[in-house]
Amino acid sequence: MGKKLKVEVVFGATNYSIAFLLLLVWLFAAAFFYVNPLGSCKYQLTYWRNSLIRSSSIKGDVAIEEETEVIKVVKEDPFKFHLRRLVRDEDKMQLENTGFSCHTQISEVCVSDRPVIIDNYTIHIPSSQPNFTRFMKPYAEVNAHYLVSSIQIVAGGDDNQSNSSPACHITHDVPAVVFSGRGFAGNLYHELSEIIIPLFITTFHFRSQVKFVITDFNPRWVKKYTRILNRLSGYEPINPAENGTVHCFPGGVIGLNYYGLLTLNSTDDIPGKYSMADFRKFLRESYGLKYENVFQIKRERPVLLLISRKNSRTFLNEREMVALMEEVGFEVVVVKPSGMSDLGKFARE
Ligand SMILES: *[C@@H]1O[C@H](CO)[C@@H](O)[C@H](O)[C@H]1NC(C)=O
Ligand SMILES: *[C@@H]1O[C@H](CO)[C@@H](O)[C@H](O)[C@H]1NC(C)=O
Ligand SMILES: *[C@@H]1O[C@H](CO)[C@@H](O)[C@H](O)[C@H]1NC(C)=O
Ligand SMILES: *[C@@H]1O[C@H](CO)[C@@H](O)[C@H](O)[C@H]1NC(C)=O
Ligand SMILES: *[C@@H]1O[C@H](CO)[C@@H](O)[C@H](O)[C@H]1NC(C)=O
Repeated sequence: MGKKLKVEVVFGATNYSIAFLLLLVWLFAAAFFYVNPLGSCKYQLTYWRNSLIRSSSIKGDVAIEEETEVIKVVKEDPFKFHLRRLVRDEDKMQLENTGFSCHTQISEVCVSDRPVIIDNYTIHIPSSQPNFTRFMKPYAEVNAHYLVSSIQIVAGGDDNQSNSSPACHITHDVPAVVFSGRGFAGNLYHELSEIIIPLFITTFHFRSQVKFVITDFNPRWVKKYTRILNRLSGYEPINPAENGTVHCFPGGVIGLNYYGLLTLNSTDDIPGKYSMADFRKFLRESYGLKYENVFQIKRERPVLLLISRKNSRTFLNEREMVALMEEVGFEVVVVKPSGMSDLGKFARE
């Protein structure tokens, strides 16, 4: 049933393999944030373990005590620990007290560290909260909600699985992450901004021990992002509407944390405080790209890929841009977005 995480490394990649991914992210990073695209890249490791090691060396005994505490929690209940890291303050207290809490960043995200029973687009969450039923759209960007199917959350009941929930057909042993694969899917920019980055922020710290339950399931979309999905989850994505199967999970997240257009906010993102550099590193690893940085390319003129759109958001001064890029030392290759639908192939070329 589960598929082992597979990281493909493409050896012998050509000099072109620096690829559009870096360029795209650089361009947006440069445009939206104060990032110098060619500046030195420092990669902060954001795994909790590393930060613990760092803090323990700074703070001495107290931190080491904290560390053993955390490791104890992880040993007892790794997935609960990872789920609780997705919420903070009152939401965290509510999650600990009732097993369920929802917060609104831009869109709503709900977290349960108790059993989650998924019956098509209805999600039963037995918890000790007062009963409630609510509809939500598991997609990050509110503007796209009109395209996204609603799911129904039936929470509360009692602390007991034996309330009105249906019986499980398949019992999974890792948490579910439920999100819609529709929204503005089909547009690379929206897919990165509204699905892939939120998915990265929400699930990277699970270290592949999650299953994706994708509503509005589109096999073509799933195929397009196979490498990214396989790196974040060690299992095949599940289509809950496939055939009356009721899936049970030990916990779950419904919706994805999202902080705005192409936003990774290293001071604020929960749980990981990820930066654009972390995401870039993640993409590079997912696509097996060789170079971290333009200075590693041992080639007289590094290749710069310019993605040239024709109908909207066109560069009005494309010719001048190309001339300048060539002047500063790049070999410029202009591509049309239509050649980008096979991302793996595109990234290698
Ligand atoms: C909540 O729902 C369960 C199952 O539907 C029912 O048994 C229980 O009485 C309800 N509790 C409240 C407080 O309404
Ligand atoms: C849970 O269900 C069992 C029987 O199904 C019952 O004996 C028990 O009291 C219930 N627990 C709660 C907290 O309602
Ligand atoms: C699941 O729900 C969707 C939307 O409500 C519906 O169109 C579909 O037929 C359902 N699938 C099954 C297997 O019941
Ligand atoms: C429904 O799908 C599940 C998971 O994909 C599969 O294991 C099961 O055999 C299918 N059931 C039917 C009746 O097709
Ligand atoms: C990042 O989050 C902090 C704290 O919430 C906020 O003050 C800051 O404006 C955010 N930065 C960006 C670029 O969104």
